[in-house]
Amino acid sequence: MAISITPLTDTIGAEVGGVDLSRLIDAETADRLRRAFVDRALLVIRDQKMDAPQFLAAARIFGEPVRQNLAKFNLPDHPDVATISNQEKTNAGKINVRGVSWHTDHSFQPEPPKATTLLAVSLPSRGGDTDWAHMGAAYDALPDDLRAEVDGLEAVHAFTDTRVPPSVAERIAAGDDDASDGVAHPLIRTHPENGRKSIYLNPLRVRRFRGMTPGRCAALIERLVRHATRPEFVYTHRWRPGDMVIWDNRCCIHKANTDYDFQELRLLYRIILAGDRPH
Ligand code: SIN
Repeated sequence: MAISITPLTDTIGAEVGGVDLSRLIDAETADRLRRAFVDRALLVIRDQKMDAPQFLAAARIFGEPVRQNLAKFNLPDHPDVATISNQEKTNAGKINVRGVSWHTDHSFQPEPPKATTLLAVSLPSRGGDTDWAHMGAAYDALPDDLRAEVDGLEAVHAFTDTRVPPSVAERIAAGDDDASDGVAHPLIRTHPENGRKSIYLNPLRVRRFRGMTPGRCAALIERLVRHATRPEFVYTHRWRPGDMVIWDNRCCIHKANTDYDFQELRLLYRIILAGDRPH
């Protein structure tokens, strides 16, 4: 069966049809998938019946799986596959749903992952969609004054416990202008495979922009997020069991929605793929 690749919106995403990733695919199909991934930044591949090892093999079409930072969520037999579940609890026994505000994965690492992929295992009967915003499209549409402000800036990213995420303003105010407890990345990065510029911003992890006062940093982050998450840059995915979605962390931010009944299990497998230092 021939594969089909159909854009999902004008700016981001494509749905792939006619492919069964639980089996070996030929080199030409793998190439088409990799090209579509780079061109569209996000691929939806529905109706995949895969267990964890098959999901790992499917992810390897696009890159090399790497270990995720919170080991307690990794599958014991397949530690490069982690779970994202709405049954996770804090030490105090409270539900702790991760990924519910805009972010890009593991940006606090010197070489953050190029991609993340999720496989839907169990879903609530309604709600629990995931949103992605294309930061390359958002960069292209920046107003001139904002583009002049962001070009050349460096952002310091650091991991913090997000069980009670402080506001952007609080995090910025707690930092200073020293990158010793974080990793600095350019705010505007160039995609290593297609040369496109995009805004590399993780509103959840950026502590500050070097050389900028905390108040201006917080205001700039908020303005950029408002701009980048305008509807024309966003794709919202309504999950079905067996959906595999893979996206390019180098040019996308994403967030999960919590508008569903928490008595119902929402469980996805997650794999992240090795990346390189942003430039
Ligand atoms: C994530 O942030 O990786 C998870 C997104 C989701 O649960 O939809």
